[in-house]
Amino acid sequence: MSATLDNVKKVLKPVKPDPSNTESELATTKTKSGKILEKIEDDVFLVNQIKGFSKGDIVDLDKELDKLLIQSEREEDNLVSSQKEPVDWSDATNYLKNIDTKQFRQYELACDRVKQFYEEQHEKQTVAYNIQARINFKTKSRAKMTIWEGLEKLNKLLDDSDPDTELSQIDHALQTAEAIRRDGKPRWFQLVGLIHDLGKLLYFFDSKGQWDVVGDTFPVGCKPSKKIIFPDSFKRNPDFVNPLYNTKYGIYSKNCGLDKVMLSWGHDEYMYHVAKGNSTLPPEALAMIRYHSFYPWHQEYAYSYLMDDHDKQMLKAVKAFNAYDLYSKTEEVFDVETLKPYYLDLIDEYFPKKIIEF
Ligand SMILES: [Fe+2]
Ligand SMILES: [Fe+2]
Repeated sequence: MSATLDNVKKVLKPVKPDPSNTESELATTKTKSGKILEKIEDDVFLVNQIKGFSKGDIVDLDKELDKLLIQSEREEDNLVSSQKEPVDWSDATNYLKNIDTKQFRQYELACDRVKQFYEEQHEKQTVAYNIQARINFKTKSRAKMTIWEGLEKLNKLLDDSDPDTELSQIDHALQTAEAIRRDGKPRWFQLVGLIHDLGKLLYFFDSKGQWDVVGDTFPVGCKPSKKIIFPDSFKRNPDFVNPLYNTKYGIYSKNCGLDKVMLSWGHDEYMYHVAKGNSTLPPEALAMIRYHSFYPWHQEYAYSYLMDDHDKQMLKAVKAFNAYDLYSKTEEVFDVETLKPYYLDLIDEYFPKKIIEF
């Protein structure tokens, strides 16, 4: 295992652009590291899929939500283990049908890679970094293009870098959107399926690595929940010893609403701001985009004490979306050109400006 782990460490060593490089060298560096981004994203995805599966994500939310949220806060306050009793395998038969069982064998290796990824992410996602990332977002111009061009660009950038990837970005976008469409969900919901990961373009603009693009998200500026994956790795984050940021509420207040909470910067938060500024998508759609990687919240019910009533509605929406994000990955690959006219129409319906400032 240790030899494998060493190799993994080498592979996962963050590729930082050297400022002395020429522009073309920088492009090459980013393209090569796109491969690493894909791998870590796949691993994170797998871990979340199996976590969600093993817990049997089959609660009746309307009936259970308040109970779950209160229970979650109590557990956090009492520092009770976050592990809930595993649901019987037989209870989750429907999910098992959709998951390739060989994934379970890859789980351990994925866990090693994911652990190292989160160690870096949890150390570096500070309040200071997050404020700077938002300043950069508002003050820098990255690219102007249509949503569809953005999807193609993301597809090409990540595909070129990893010919072995089984599923391309556009495949995942279309599979998610088509699963939502097949279930007769509203058109805005289908569009969320298509664009929810488009924020990964951030990786090719001004990210510092993988840790500020992918992975589960969490609030910065308050004590990290024990329900975040690998919670002990926050000890190396400088905010962990800052008395302003290391209490239960930190810079926030009880039930202030998640809209006032700064979530770790990544493709979700970035795409949320792009969609909010350029589309007529409803609040549920924006929440799905913004919180789809906020697993500690939508799977573990952490941070219930920061939620307001509006967030309870948003939680239902995000959970509804998450099922499609996690379980729509199949062998079935859609023909992009066949589906393109339908989705171009859908994009036009909600993005009136056409050319978007990314
Ligand atoms: Fe995502
Ligand atoms: Fe996704």
